[in-house]
Amino acid sequence: MIHSIRVRGYRSLRDLTIRLGRLTIVTGENGTGKSNLYRSLWLLHEAAEGRFAESIAGEGGMPSLLWAGERRRDEPLGIRWELEHDAFHFELTCGLSPASGSSSFRTDPDIKTEAIRLGGSKGRIVAERKGSLAKVRGADRKMENLPLPVHAPESIISEVRDAARHPELAAVRAVLSDLRFYHHFRTDADSPARRAQVGSWSPVLHHDGANLAAAWQSIAESGLSDELDEAVDRAFPGSHWEAVNESDLFELSLSRPGLSRPLSARELSDGTLRYLCLIAALLTPRPPRLLVFNEPESSLNGNLLEPLAEMAARVPEDTQLLFVTHSEALTSALLSRMDGVSRRLISYEGETRLEGQGGARRVWTFDD
Ligand SMILES: Nc1ncnc2c1ncn2[C@@H]1O[C@H](COP(=O)(O)OP(=O)(O)OP(=O)(O)O)[C@@H](O)[C@H]1O
Ligand SMILES: [Mg+2]
Repeated sequence: MIHSIRVRGYRSLRDLTIRLGRLTIVTGENGTGKSNLYRSLWLLHEAAEGRFAESIAGEGGMPSLLWAGERRRDEPLGIRWELEHDAFHFELTCGLSPASGSSSFRTDPDIKTEAIRLGGSKGRIVAERKGSLAKVRGADRKMENLPLPVHAPESIISEVRDAARHPELAAVRAVLSDLRFYHHFRTDADSPARRAQVGSWSPVLHHDGANLAAAWQSIAESGLSDELDEAVDRAFPGSHWEAVNESDLFELSLSRPGLSRPLSARELSDGTLRYLCLIAALLTPRPPRLLVFNEPESSLNGNLLEPLAEMAARVPEDTQLLFVTHSEALTSALLSRMDGVSRRLISYEGETRLEGQGGARRVWTFDD
């Protein structure tokens, strides 16, 4: 289980710590930093997958990710993540690439330090990095020096990949790779979720819902067809779903009472399509360690939130859930079915804070 994440210097998250339980709900008004929290967690996952620099570029590059507000004199121009898991503690600090450096990739992150410890933040070191010098504990328990390239904007978690030589690092990578994020399924006419296509076994819904019909069929064939039927019937009473069309293409359709033919994914309303995507994400036959949703309620009518929460309650106990939401109705629907905590973000002089969190904090440094 991931117990907490602390982020410093990322956009409005000047210094924010969030404790995570089995179910954590993050709420707050517009612009308080909910999506920043979502994306900062996603970036850690991207780092584990070897896509840290690419994902930071997709966000506008390192300079735009840095806290743009007032800065104390010795406050570094950098971002620091700390993640506390049952089994390990991971921290990564990055800043701007040096202007004098030889690389043209100036908006890539420059990773300053990384440390992975077993147990808590004072536990036994498994891997450690300062700039391009890394030391990683091998299977023989000895620390091994591993030089990284001079321009090395990727984490040692993704760069050191030999699981047989570095099993402990591989175990950390397995955890951080197994976080799953869903934010805003596209519902326009060209949305991937609306397309009929050749399908394949799909235990995991793509982030854009592209394999929606194949994901529904995979859930049904994994023994959860009653849950899918219930999710449809609770939301759209008397309706039935179908995932394969008469041309053997995968396309989700709904038969509604009163209509003489099923409506295909191309014809479903935006809210209906989003609901079907969310159900596929929740009932996945391959649940991740942490499943994160950013504003799942968008364009869903209130009456879909109860069945959504019901399906969330079917997610196996060992999967943590994190919902970032505006919806009080969704929050109370979730909390009435599962043990969980709701945390509210506020904006204080442009800085994201937890409601009730104190003011003064120690300035950190790259070498902490
Ligand atoms: N580099 C930066 N430094 C400081 N603040 C920033 C930076 N980049 C963006 N912000 C601010 O972060 C704030 C929070 O943005 P975010 O998208 O996380 O809000 P949100 O809580 O998800 O809002 P909504 O409910 O509207 O989706 C915005 O007010 C934005 O101006
Ligand atoms: Mg947002």
